[in-house]
This record gives sequence, C-alpha cells and structure tokens, in this order.
Amino acid sequence: MLAPPKRLIDVEIDGETVRVPEGATLLDALRAKRVDTPTLCYSENLTPVNACRVCVVELEGSRTLVPSCARKAEGGMQVATDSQRVRTSRRMVLEFLASSVDLSLANDDVRRWISDYGVDAERYGEQAAPAPLGERDTRHAGHHHEPDGTRAETVAQPVKVDNDLYVRDYERCILCYKCVEACGVDAQNTFAIAVAGRGFDARISTEFDVTLPDSACVYCGNCIGVCPTGALMFKSEHDMREGGTWNEEAQTVTETICPYCGVGCDLELHVQDNEIVKVSSPLDNSITSGHLCIKGRFGFQFVQNRGPKDADAAARGLGIVEGPADRIARDTGDPDA
Ligand code: SF4
Ligand code: SF4
Ligand code: FES
Repeated sequence: MLAPPKRLIDVEIDGETVRVPEGATLLDALRAKRVDTPTLCYSENLTPVNACRVCVVELEGSRTLVPSCARKAEGGMQVATDSQRVRTSRRMVLEFLASSVDLSLANDDVRRWISDYGVDAERYGEQAAPAPLGERDTRHAGHHHEPDGTRAETVAQPVKVDNDLYVRDYERCILCYKCVEACGVDAQNTFAIAVAGRGFDARISTEFDVTLPDSACVYCGNCIGVCPTGALMFKSEHDMREGGTWNEEAQTVTETICPYCGVGCDLELHVQDNEIVKVSSPLDNSITSGHLCIKGRFGFQFVQNRGPKDADAAARGLGIVEGPADRIARDTGDPDA
C-alpha cells in the first residue's frame, strides 16, 4: 500500500524559501537547495549521531548552532549557512582534526572543505611523537597526561594488522562513530566495536581491546564501507599502498550481483591489473544500502585463485561449505576436476 503523501513545509535558507517534505532534516533542505555543506559523521545509510558538528548552521532563535544532519526541518525556520559564526565553527572542527589526525586518505570533499574553510593545522605547532603500538589502548579515563603545550597532540600510532582481511589504522580515525553504528543496529547488529576512553584518549576498540580474531567481529567489512578517512582498509589495499602499487586512476569499477546466495546484493568490484583489489556496494542500493556480508565483501579472493583446487581451498577458508570446485567435481563426478 502506498504511504500517504507527506505535507510540505517551507524553510528559509540564507533568505530563500525551500520546500521540503515533513520529516526532512535541515541537511535535506540544504541539499535540495544545493548548498555545499560539510559532513563527516553523517551518512545516508546510518542514523545521525551528531559526533562531528561540522555540518552546523545558525538557526534563528536558537542559542547554539544546530547540526543540520540531525535537526528536523520545521515550517518557518530561518537558517544561515555561511555566517561568520558558522564558518568559524566548521573551521575549528576541521582544524582540530587536521592537526591531530592523518587526513591524507580522506575523500576529495574533505580536502576541499579544508581548503574552503582556510584550515591552518600547522598553527598548533609540530606534532607530538606517535604513540607506540597499543599504548593508546591502555589509557584510562581521567588518567591522561597533561600536554606541555609545545607540540600538537596527535592520535598517531602504528597500524593494527591482526587478520588477513582488513587493517585498522587509527592514526586516521576522526572518531566519527560510523563504524560503531554500522557494526551495531544500523546494519550488522554484531556490536564488536565501540568507543572506549574519554576526551582525547577516546578511541574505537573491541571489547576488552582484544584482537579482531578474538572479538565478536564477523568480518562483514561494513565498518570499512562507511569509514570516511581510510582508518579501516582492506588488507589488499593496505599492502598495495605499502608496496607503492595502489593506483586508483588505473582501477575500473564493475557492477555485478553477488553469486553466493539468493539475496542478490549489488557488488562493485574495484579492479586493478586484472585483479579485484576491493569490493563495495552502492549506498543507494535498495537491497544492501551499501552493507554486505563476509562473502560478498571478501569472497572475491577465490576468484583470483586460478586453479579449481585453489578456488575450492579459498572458498573453504571463508567458511563456504561448497565451493565452485566442489560443485564441478559433484556435477561431473570427477574428483580431480
Ligand atoms: S567487520 Fe563487521 S562485525 Fe567486524 S567490526 Fe566491522 S562491522 Fe563489526
Ligand atoms: S575508524 Fe573510521 S568509521 Fe570508525 S570512528 Fe574512526 S574514522 Fe569513523
Ligand atoms: S555531519 Fe552532522 S554532526 Fe557530523
């Protein structure tokens, strides 16, 4: 049955009226008017968590700036998107992040906003030394050391590599909570990761900071799919970047349907030099909303094992009871097929 049509409401954005359906957010109204609005923790396929505050706007009658990604539009609202107050607030958010986090792999939009808002991360001084591997994970709330003020605080630390499928490079983490949302009620309902610690020591952690193989993680990779800064990355991409062979310009993206089960998830195969190097799914796909399971996300590796026996072994390694080579052998009756 069709849903009843929604009432339309008028909102004033920078002096011009925009009409949006009831229930829309201010960000929806801004996008309807094509106002370029920075967002970091917001994603179409996740519940807004208001973590980053980079999308703030000035709302007539409101004492504080409001996050446009979460604030519902109401008829008669008057919104300013480019006031000095808004620009200063957005610049500070981007500047604090850029001074303490490695944003070099953030998407083009983030780099453009850094330039548009005149972000000067250098003014906080030279960065403090990176933390040794695992040291940040041992910090307890309220026990953090007092900075001496001569260096810019940083979340720099070595990459966590503890499994064959994806790595966690938390020196790139802006603590946007997207991975936590995707692992939780918004997609996976596994709850393998959460935020531990407080203040500058806050970080994404597994329960009791165990390694991923020891955690509840089921390797769906949905956290990677939503991470905006490259903090979570396919191991294939990580290894190629380390080896200097990762080349996005040389990659093609082929859309296909996952062959593993009957759900029919849309896959985007990122291919370089005739090898699949990572897999994603479109955010606007009605089946996946960008989310996949371990087989769709990482099962591509068996495609690249050219011999049928290799393919079979790879499929078993992913927990797939019957791989393609099994099927060939069963259908032909030839165990060596
Ligand atoms: S891979 Fe999936 S289960 Fe594991 S932490 Fe990421 S979202 Fe959670
Ligand atoms: S790991 Fe990525 S998705 Fe998770 S909080 Fe950090 S930046 Fe956000
Ligand atoms: S994008 Fe709106 S609070 Fe982060």
